[in-house]
Amino acid sequence: MIRPFSFSDLDSILQIEGQSFPKSPYDWTTFLNLHTLYPETFLVYINTNQSQKREELGGYIIFTQDGHIISIAVHPHHRRKGIGRELLQRAMKTPHLKKLWAEVRRSNQGAQAFYSKIGFQITGMVPNYYGNEDALIIQWTPAIRES
Ligand SMILES: CC(C)(COP(=O)(O)OP(=O)(O)OC[C@H]1O[C@@H](n2cnc3c(N)ncnc32)[C@H](O)[C@@H]1OP(=O)(O)O)[C@@H](O)C(=O)NCCC(=O)NCCS
Repeated sequence: MIRPFSFSDLDSILQIEGQSFPKSPYDWTTFLNLHTLYPETFLVYINTNQSQKREELGGYIIFTQDGHIISIAVHPHHRRKGIGRELLQRAMKTPHLKKLWAEVRRSNQGAQAFYSKIGFQITGMVPNYYGNEDALIIQWTPAIRES
């Protein structure tokens, strides 16, 4: 299930954030600010553990109305199960969207492979965007199909 972020998600989000972006994790004030700015496009993926009848947060995506992906991350225990794809595909279905784009660390080959698989293309590069590391700009437009 994908639904908008709520305050009770914050602890789980901070945990995933710390494990996903150890070099520069967002803190709780940043997430609350992002929620204030983008209440409809700060989305979380909820896993339901059928046997234990328990819900847990599997991942999240934050993007702006004009298509800038600010963050996407999936809990390390739940990667490669299609959660990232579902979150990204939800963003791709935003009405009137002209494009989606994001910055990705040059060293983040897993994320590059992920975006490429979903149909994003590298369209640029920002030198030293992350201080001592370049960012690749990856982009998708509705005309591009998933490979
Ligand atoms: C990138 C990320 C969000 C992907 O989420 P995910 O739920 O694991 O991705 P999915 O299971 O939906 O993957 C869809 C496809 O993308 C590709 N893919 C995903 N992760 C990959 C990886 N690490 N290496 C190679 N290909 C990968 C695969 O083709 C995969 O399909 P398959 O598993 O059937 O082969 C997740 O790895 C993550 O949270 N990484 C840390 C945070 C991060 O780097 N975010 C992006 C910052 S720009």
